[in-house]
Amino acid sequence: MMEVRSFYEQREFPKEEREGKSLSLLSYIGNTPLIQIHQLARSRTGVQIFAKAEWLNPGGSVKDRAGLKIIEDGEKSGQLTNEKIILDSTSGNTGIAYAMIGAIKGYQVILVVPENISEERKKALEAYGVELIFTDPILGSDGALLEAQRIYQEDPTRYFFANQYNNPSNWKAHYETTGVEIIYQTHGRVTHFVAGVGTGGTLMGIGRRLKEFNPEIKLFGVQPDSGFHGIEGLKHMATAIRPGIYDESILDGTLFVKTEEAFEMAGRLAREEGLWVGPSSGAALWASLKLAESIEHGLIVTVFPDGGSRYPEFCSDCEKRKKRLSLKYPRTEVSLPTTSI
Ligand SMILES: Cc1ncc(COP(=O)(O)O)c(C=O)c1O
Repeated sequence: MMEVRSFYEQREFPKEEREGKSLSLLSYIGNTPLIQIHQLARSRTGVQIFAKAEWLNPGGSVKDRAGLKIIEDGEKSGQLTNEKIILDSTSGNTGIAYAMIGAIKGYQVILVVPENISEERKKALEAYGVELIFTDPILGSDGALLEAQRIYQEDPTRYFFANQYNNPSNWKAHYETTGVEIIYQTHGRVTHFVAGVGTGGTLMGIGRRLKEFNPEIKLFGVQPDSGFHGIEGLKHMATAIRPGIYDESILDGTLFVKTEEAFEMAGRLAREEGLWVGPSSGAALWASLKLAESIEHGLIVTVFPDGGSRYPEFCSDCEKRKKRLSLKYPRTEVSLPTTSI
């Protein structure tokens, strides 16, 4: 096990901060609070549960971290220059992160999204000045991903393809920031880490950092229990295109959560802990509590990716919600992406 302080000193701070220039909104990405879950975890006396409050990032989600690193690494490598357009597929939080960062840095952003994303999401993205290209809702987020790849391949000189599903900068953002913060904020006492899997960036980045700090720390992924689900931001790997950055071999296990359980837990987090968070946070806590039941002692850390205000339709009808998010061509008609940047 390494000394805690030395890990914190390795944390990457935004460029302006390192260079002592005036701080922009980008400097406030990361360094989120670690909040203890009291009421909902009280039955497990030997186990403590904490959550990273990622909705407090300036763009409102955990995705600010990956968005910033993807864009700044693109700048450093020379692949992202002033005349290029940032292009990616995303149905939500990553798009808002690119949009915010693009507005601050002066880049044009084009996002490919399934047409059925919520009106609120569309409005938020358009408010930042992003151009949206809609894909068939039946093809889901995989359809948007394949279309973004097609657009990029048609004219690679025009775009910076951010490619969050395959871009290592995504998980490295968490390796360099979130993982280090967790070690520091728990004084190195973290024993288990639990995170929902979308691109896998959060879980891979934090997981690698924690294992490097102390190989005894156990890592658990959280996935919806089926491909037909309503937990926005999470992927059911067995029925979706597998992100290139997702490597299951570093995990100690995966916990599968039903849409109804995720929403029920998100509702309870608001009412019993005062934390109004989204359904993927509910899924993360549900899985953390399951894990807590199976251990005698430990300090579990999880991540709450975004806030409840992003989900105005709070699953009063979960079946309708699942249909909206999960319609897809049969698995055999989707091929694995081959492009990486
Ligand atoms: C709401 C929400 N939860 C969880 C995740 C999963 O994060 P990651 O892509 O790092 O696996 C995302 C990703 O977009 C998200 O938007």
